[in-house]
Amino acid sequence: MERIVVLYLRMSVIYFVLGVVVGFGMLLWPDESGYYMSSHVHLNLLGFMSMMIYGVGYHILPKFSGRLIYSPRIMKVQFWLANAGLIGMVISWPFTAGGDASMFESVLIFSALLSLISIILFAINILKTIKSV
Ligand code: HEM
Ligand code: HEM
Repeated sequence: MERIVVLYLRMSVIYFVLGVVVGFGMLLWPDESGYYMSSHVHLNLLGFMSMMIYGVGYHILPKFSGRLIYSPRIMKVQFWLANAGLIGMVISWPFTAGGDASMFESVLIFSALLSLISIILFAINILKTIKSV
């Protein structure tokens, strides 16, 4: 398995653990749960689930279509953008829920943009890899 695939899978599992720890904390402290809801949801869905799909997808989809991945470089750049974006979102989100949020609002928007770019890169890379002919 390629090293970058292992990194995707490793980060996916780490986000899973962090996501459910936050979820468990939300059960224990329901009054504060609203602050952490978005971080919990995105650690699990954008961290665990999406990162797992990136890793497994990059590993098996080229094999299914009998070709090499379109761009190994995009695969690596996307990894760093996806992680930087998610970590930025997860850290800044609880602060923006608090009200006085201008600085964290900017961090959130910037991080969300990184996440968005990483998803677009994934889409391009996979579509170019599996395209017929
Ligand atoms: C130990 C495991 C988990 C615990 C203790 C937990 C706990 C929670 C809690 C307390 C809430 C807030 C519920 C509310 O106030 O309405 C919540 C919401 C949510 N959780 Fe989890 N969670 C866990 C795992 C997961 C996993 C694995 C996923 C996704 C793969 C997930 C996805 C969500 C989503 C999407 C919401 C928002 C639901 C909505 O929009 O109302 N959770 N979770
Ligand atoms: C660029 C990536 C993404 C961005 C910027 C983003 C942004 C957001 C925002 C701003 C909200 C509303 C949060 C609030 O209530 O204040 C939200 C909610 C939600 N997002 Fe995302 N999202 C992204 C990716 C995803 C993905 C990939 C999934 C699922 C696979 C997902 C699932 C959800 C769910 C289930 C909610 C509702 C959570 C709740 O009930 O509070 N998001 N997202």
